[in-house]
Amino acid sequence: MKTNRLSETLTQALNDQLTKEAHASQIYLSYAAWADNEGYGGIANFLFRHAAEERNHMMKVLEYILKRGAKARVMAIPPPAADPSGIPQLFEKVLEHEVDNTSPVYRIVKMAHTEEDWATFNFMQWFVNEQIEEETLALELLDKIKIMGGENATPVALYELNKDLGNMPDDATLAQDVTTDNP
Ligand SMILES: [Fe+2]
Ligand SMILES: [Fe+2]
Repeated sequence: MKTNRLSETLTQALNDQLTKEAHASQIYLSYAAWADNEGYGGIANFLFRHAAEERNHMMKVLEYILKRGAKARVMAIPPPAADPSGIPQLFEKVLEHEVDNTSPVYRIVKMAHTEEDWATFNFMQWFVNEQIEEETLALELLDKIKIMGGENATPVALYELNKDLGNMPDDATLAQDVTTDNP
């Protein structure tokens, strides 16, 4: 009896996503180490927490592949990206990486839809939501740096930002959770 509930193409795509999430975790880890070296302990804390979050995403995909009776492959991950030139570029890179991770998520959703694999389609909705959150968070970081004057941000502003990010919650508020009382 066939116990594998995933198609060959979706197995491949999900395994690629597994690697992609591990890679994302490694990228955040390297950025965190860089930020800490530069003296931004608060920003490093935020990035370390985010590295752990991406690792959790990897676990979710791995577990899903296994639970559907398919073969999960743990592959080598590419090296992390180069260190950013400064805090403004760091935040640009964060948004870039998140958008770059949204595309394969959408691709898998589309594949699941085409194959009428509603289990995978349903599972992937969690990731669609998560990517909205992560892109929102990255955009908020870019807003902050813009208010601070971008590349010309003063040390005082960077000091405040560093403090701010150390205490920043992991999740951004989604549009669907907003009310008129609580915008
Ligand atoms: Fe992720
Ligand atoms: Fe992410």
